Amino acid sequence: MKDFPSIPTAPRALPLIGHVVPLLRDPLAFLNSLPALGELVRVRLGPLSMIVICDPELTRRALLDDRVFDKGGPLYDRLREVIGDGVVSCPHQAHRRLRRLSQPAFHQARLPDYARAMTGCVQEATDSWSPGQVLDVPAEMMATSSRIITATLFSDALPATAHGRLTADVTTVVKSLYQRMFLIPPLDRLPTPGNRAHLAARARLHGTVERIIAERRADGADYGDLLSALVAAHDPEDDRPGMSSAEITDTVVSFVLAGIESTAATLSSALDLVARHPEVEQRLHAEVDAVLGGAPATHADLPRLPLTERVITETLRLRPPGWFFTRVVTADTHLGGHLLPAGTSVAYSPYLIHHRPDLYQDPEVFSPDRWAAPHPQPPRHAFLPFAAGARKCIGDSFSMIEATLALATIAARWRLEHVPGHRGRLAAAVTLELRDLHMRARPRTATPASSVPAAEGRS
Ligand code: HEM
Repeated sequence: MKDFPSIPTAPRALPLIGHVVPLLRDPLAFLNSLPALGELVRVRLGPLSMIVICDPELTRRALLDDRVFDKGGPLYDRLREVIGDGVVSCPHQAHRRLRRLSQPAFHQARLPDYARAMTGCVQEATDSWSPGQVLDVPAEMMATSSRIITATLFSDALPATAHGRLTADVTTVVKSLYQRMFLIPPLDRLPTPGNRAHLAARARLHGTVERIIAERRADGADYGDLLSALVAAHDPEDDRPGMSSAEITDTVVSFVLAGIESTAATLSSALDLVARHPEVEQRLHAEVDAVLGGAPATHADLPRLPLTERVITETLRLRPPGWFFTRVVTADTHLGGHLLPAGTSVAYSPYLIHHRPDLYQDPEVFSPDRWAAPHPQPPRHAFLPFAAGARKCIGDSFSMIEATLALATIAARWRLEHVPGHRGRLAAAVTLELRDLHMRARPRTATPASSVPAAEGRS
């Protein structure tokens, strides 16, 4: 075990298991307690020591040096079991080629078409709601976000009847990943119900994706979707003919895993936070009424929905779905004056950075207006919901568009109210997500034009 004598260790470590208890019981409070101890803090997961970076500048340095701070550590070791060496989890040396091949799928020019598909899926979901209906919001947002990913990835290649299964499999895999981080082999291979469900969902997910890719390769047509872009991708810096089928499978499963839960969690949190802040809610309704006038939101409307976008931005600050990520040090290096030998496990946390009171005034307060003038903007790299550097989220613009259009489309027609006793509980698993959030859907009538606030900078 590495010693790191110069780096403080978080208190309350138990013999053998280290900090597993606070990390499982209340990981967010545990993380928020670490910056008081130092810029780097050592925590222990069983026999493994991990260095948590608590300082924004050191986090930035680690993210920008992705050769030395490479994907690895407990989270990525478990992710690799599911998505192999796809673009999310592959080591640095394989990354640049896979990223170049994946990037065209997210080209700016493709975004308006994706936006159309996104709004269509949200409308389809909200059309099925009835006045007074109580919605299980996280489940509803998972189903909608899953519809959106499959519509933008595969067009209509996934039969409507298969959506429920895919969503359930993604949920099972993502949820079990976090628990599996703490399972020491051979416990992860025992035939427990949890392990069996994880393996079955993983196999089905791969089977579904492999079938669709084989159909696409045989067909050869461009459907304008993410999958067509991946199949057609060619890297000018490489002699090989684009991605192999196995690489496309890993990449598609990566998009499915990385893209569904995170956006669903963002939307559930945004709906929850808006309902808890009636003044924000009223201004949001006024903005969507003035801009959309009852029509579905389109890509062209985005510049005229600044408050809607700020609500999403502030949601991503307060409750970043990706709250904790691990890396492994590949060569002896120094960070913040401390030696980190090759093999050291390191973690960074957007949640921890976003909740530092020296970076954000009243960090626990939901305040979309902190992102607008005259408020001072937070320092560079203090806002990391999509990370930074070469491993920054490839779907950042895609998901900002998705979440903004979805929130606008929902708010244009519905007001969601909390149901007593089911007001939501924030849980930190692989993503930071809400559980037990039930809300009653009330149909809205448009805000009278005279009560629309003038301060939203509408063009
Ligand atoms: C609100 C929604 C989302 C959030 C908050 C989010 C967040 C992140 C973060 C923090 C990372 C970096 C992880 C690390 O440093 O270890 C990441 C990477 C990634 N995300 Fe997202 N993501 C979102 C949506 C999406 C979507 C919709 C897709 C694809 C359709 C996607 C695909 C990816 C991929 C492929 C990577 C790996 C990039 C690389 O290593 O080159 N994400 N995401």
